[in-house]
Amino acid sequence: MPRLRTALTDLLGIEHPILLAPMAAISGGRLAAAVTEAGGLGLLGGGYADPRWVDPAFHEAGNGRVGIGFITWALDRQPEALARALAHRPAAVMLSFGDPGTHVAAIKEAGARLICQVQRLEEAEQAAALGADVIVAQGQDGGGHGRVGRGTLGFVRAAVEAVAPVPVVAAGGIGDGRGLAAALMLGAAGVLMGTRFYAAEEAVAPQAVKQALAEGRGDDTVFTGVFDRVRGPEWPGGYGGHALRNALTERWRGRESELAGAVLEAEREAYRRADEADDLSSRVVWAGEAVDLIRESLPASEIVRRTVSEAAAVLSVAPRFVVS
Ligand SMILES: Cc1cc2nc3c(=O)[nH]c(=O)nc-3n(C[C@H](O)[C@H](O)[C@H](O)COP(=O)(O)O)c2cc1C
Repeated sequence: MPRLRTALTDLLGIEHPILLAPMAAISGGRLAAAVTEAGGLGLLGGGYADPRWVDPAFHEAGNGRVGIGFITWALDRQPEALARALAHRPAAVMLSFGDPGTHVAAIKEAGARLICQVQRLEEAEQAAALGADVIVAQGQDGGGHGRVGRGTLGFVRAAVEAVAPVPVVAAGGIGDGRGLAAALMLGAAGVLMGTRFYAAEEAVAPQAVKQALAEGRGDDTVFTGVFDRVRGPEWPGGYGGHALRNALTERWRGRESELAGAVLEAEREAYRRADEADDLSSRVVWAGEAVDLIRESLPASEIVRRTVSEAAAVLSVAPRFVVS
């Protein structure tokens, strides 16, 4: 098994420059532990900061060295979730979507690495100034929540320049070794993958969802606020989510502002029923452009192994593209 040593692997004490995205409730203890076991770093999906979720997730990860991620604006409302997490001495805490400022001191005092996920250069610079140990530059190609405006390719390169020497991790649209190799070429110190690991065997997700990811195409994805309105919780302005298109997104495409009052209540009720039944014509399946690269559900260890092997292989042949 080849190794790709970067500032990220050195900083986090891991073998491979691959982070598991802390996908809310999907990145449970089994998945996080499996990614760590394979040489990357698993981040538990602490999502909306429900303190009750935290202890069982760490216990499920067993003795594995894992981190945890929270949605910052949600953690602001329930900071006790962070205290619970820090009691487990996580390797790292990742904060995304909001101002991380108020949580920095507690994370640092607990000896955890602070990872901040950002969507704008200004936020990258703020995170670096706050003392972030790692900055995840998330382009709009990624699955799940984010912001439109910056594609991964341009954003990662610019973030690397803006916050050097803080290591930057690329996120958004990366699902294989070529994506990892490309990220390293841009100056990133590693990658964070969500969509790819959502389809992993250990991910907490119904089989129908993993099947949909295996069959889905990047062309079939949509960036929308519909799920946040109908499924909840409501997100602060400027954010939306990247998901597989379905009957619900198509019904409200371009008319999201009309989702209000009795119509909204009816859609919410219908969504609850669809969610219970795993009816994917309504239920959200967050996914980014990397969905093109998913053919099957694999063990997380296999995803890590293939990604690293392929990256090493393409990087080792890169000189043949140089014409002198
Ligand atoms: C199913 C899913 C759930 C996600 N949930 C979260 C989350 O709870 N917190 C977070 O910071 N990012 C979340 N993300 C975004 C990831 O952190 C990351 O930016 C994204 O997955 C990277 O792009 P990719 O999906 O192409 O790998 C989620 C992504 C997916 C696909």
